[in-house]
Amino acid sequence: MDTTEKFACLRQAAPVLADWYRANARMLPWREEPSPYRVWISEIMLQQTRIEAVKPYFQRFLEALPDLPALAAAPEEQVLKLWEGLGYYSRARNLQKAAQVCVEEYGGELPSDYERLRKLPGIGNYTAGAIASIAWGQPAAAVDGNVLRVLARLFADETDIARPAVRREAEEMIRQVLQEGCAAPGDFNQGIMELGETLCIPGGAPSCGECPWRRFCAAGRQGTAERYPVKAPKKPRRVEEWTVLRLETGGKTAVRRRPAKGLLAGLYEFPALEGRWTEEQVRRWLSEQDAPVVSVEDLGPARHVFSHVEWHMTGYRILLEREWQGDWRFVPWEELKERCPLPTALRAYGNPPVRKEEPV
Ligand code: ADE
Repeated sequence: MDTTEKFACLRQAAPVLADWYRANARMLPWREEPSPYRVWISEIMLQQTRIEAVKPYFQRFLEALPDLPALAAAPEEQVLKLWEGLGYYSRARNLQKAAQVCVEEYGGELPSDYERLRKLPGIGNYTAGAIASIAWGQPAAAVDGNVLRVLARLFADETDIARPAVRREAEEMIRQVLQEGCAAPGDFNQGIMELGETLCIPGGAPSCGECPWRRFCAAGRQGTAERYPVKAPKKPRRVEEWTVLRLETGGKTAVRRRPAKGLLAGLYEFPALEGRWTEEQVRRWLSEQDAPVVSVEDLGPARHVFSHVEWHMTGYRILLEREWQGDWRFVPWEELKERCPLPTALRAYGNPPVRKEEPV
């Protein structure tokens, strides 16, 4: 299909999708009252995380920080703590930065137009389009990977959806269709997301028989929906090996904050050695450093996959006679749990200490 044919198809299909959405939308916490703030928080949380997993985070976040000025004024650590487990912590930091800009420049509210939203920290084309259309009813496109998959099937288009031109064409087409008034912007955008999450799902099991777009869909007609989208193979991720040390004494655990920039910026971590160290090597290293070791316990391996890196970890719990020098801080367990955001990557080593094993 060329662009003109795609556009003609989308124009006819758009109102059918918006009707389907109105009749079939799942009731989700942020849909009950789609204020710009609630739509924004939910959309940022929904990037990379499943709807079911987001629900409790969303409720907790809104209870703690019910509006934009509250988010702008909160201590950064509180925001990161509320984000703990969702990953991609720069998103949480950007949320707060954007809230602060809105307090300074827009009277404590999110702006209603796409261009101004787009300029806020952490708000890209997708999120600006989602807020502008869902919360403000503006004719803006909100195109993410789900939407690109649905469109690749609708048009039976084999172009690699990772190419920026594919996204640009989709955004442009949707914006025009919405500007022409073919469908309510929020219902259309949420409809296409909903379709991508419930029926036109990735992999080999799309439910074409139930799809409101079945009479428009080129891949559906050919019975080839599962072949789309065509994606170029990904580069393999870099693997890093780490040996994580949980140093404990008197109910306290050694942690430090990671630097303000880079992977897991500003979160807490345990001391770690590069590479995979055996228990024997760790004991020897500690004794060379004159660490007052009482015991060493092997906590076993753990893995965490980030978008571009994988951490392959080994962990040891090391009881010390007393606090030991270094650039980390010994923090009581309760404080660590309540106030120090710890990345999911380290969760395997972040369980509460077992009291009976502590030195008397
Ligand atoms: N996925 C991400 N945002 C969504 C929304 N607003 N509705 C449905 N699914 C979504």
